[in-house]
Amino acid sequence: MKEKKFFLSENDIPKQWYNLAADLPPAPPPLGPGGKPITPDMLAPVFPMNLIEQEVSQKRWIDIPDEIIQILYRWRPSPLRRATYLEEYLKTPARIYYKDESMSPPGSHKPNTAIPQAWYNKKFGIKKLITETGAGQWGCALSFACKLIGLECKVYMVRISFDQKPLRKSMMRIWGAKCVASPSNETNFGREVLKKMPDTPGSLGIAISEAIEEAVSDKSGKTRYSLGSVLNHVLLHQTIIGLEAKKQLKMAGERGADVIIACTGGGSNFGGLSFPFVYDKINGAKIKIIPTEPTACPTMTRGPYTYDFGDTACQTPLMAMFTLGHNFVPPPIHAGGLRYHGMAPLVSQAIVEKLIEPRAYNQVQCYESALIWANTEGFICAPETSHAIAGVIDEANKAKQEGKEKVILFNYSGHGLMDLAGYDKFLDGHLTDYSLPESELSKSLESLKNLPKPSLK
Ligand SMILES: Cc1ncc(COP(=O)(O)O)c(C=O)c1O
Repeated sequence: MKEKKFFLSENDIPKQWYNLAADLPPAPPPLGPGGKPITPDMLAPVFPMNLIEQEVSQKRWIDIPDEIIQILYRWRPSPLRRATYLEEYLKTPARIYYKDESMSPPGSHKPNTAIPQAWYNKKFGIKKLITETGAGQWGCALSFACKLIGLECKVYMVRISFDQKPLRKSMMRIWGAKCVASPSNETNFGREVLKKMPDTPGSLGIAISEAIEEAVSDKSGKTRYSLGSVLNHVLLHQTIIGLEAKKQLKMAGERGADVIIACTGGGSNFGGLSFPFVYDKINGAKIKIIPTEPTACPTMTRGPYTYDFGDTACQTPLMAMFTLGHNFVPPPIHAGGLRYHGMAPLVSQAIVEKLIEPRAYNQVQCYESALIWANTEGFICAPETSHAIAGVIDEANKAKQEGKEKVILFNYSGHGLMDLAGYDKFLDGHLTDYSLPESELSKSLESLKNLPKPSLK
């Protein structure tokens, strides 16, 4: 019988996070007003200094405070599972493993960083965190973390998800947070957007702008902004996933993985699983590492690598990244967590360094893959996660054609039990493929015209 589940004991939880920045060439620095590199103090109105230190750190290993580990024990270490039923269905010689991040209380990988972010903010004397959410997973994760750690929490939820996923709002309420639809009437920027585009589905870029505006306008100094992806410290916190997975692959009798796959919105889910393996690749291991994204929001596969703002109102520093332009409003696909115009600078740099190979999938193929998954393994995945499963099925079929026994590892980033409306639309035949038209892409890229270009060493 093939073993299907691999559990680490609580003692084996990683005690340090891995920082990929230590192993990449120096990154083009984030730029502030006037095009000059920003200094840590310029970020101080937005983030607490202890997280800013992590953001700019070049240290390879960073200790995880024991108090954080104690909270993570609620669901970590997360299981590594083997998808034997999918293997049998595909008749593939590949062995398919997945790290099950859907087991956290809010249902995704997001609390791996929500807990440390809330903890470091609290330690710094902050009383309230404000954030945005795409699919609702991040909003739930931060609400949950703030409740456990004792902070107030407010969430700007992208309008389309606010309407598509009402039960996520209920979860945030249960954990004591306030959730409003973005664009909203609660900020200057939200009101401006609503005036110009009253029917907009919203975007993560707009919601980030609203959350930052509210956080920095609190003159008490006790409110900060929190971001659920993209930034170095967020990806750092997520590396606990890949570090656990490495130990679990060993338990399963594997020497490592040949192929690593994860879906990619802002990059933290992918970075979390893959960066410890990118480290191995830098040190000579042969691993194919694939971040997957929607064809509707093809940041890595069709966007340029250049400086851009992280939000629509241009309040963030300029970051060197793959981007579709900060004004890009992605079409309302169901994978709300993958609708972001930019990509984490560290993931972007790994693409430039040819360490990883991005790929885009359309939503129909993703839902087909999600159904194959639900009808073999049994679990109902989040629409975001289906973009990884589409990649896994492709790679498993390729292994079959080649007759090779590959080890495929992917991140099962979340369950889809709050996302059933999208499944209904797919089953009723109402979902179509959508690929971003060239004309729309060029229009959106115009916002980058006068911004600086990163110089690569
Ligand atoms: C279930 C799920 N998977 C993946 C992602 C993408 O996450 P990231 O921004 O970390 O790339 C999200 C984002 O909301 C999500 O909810």
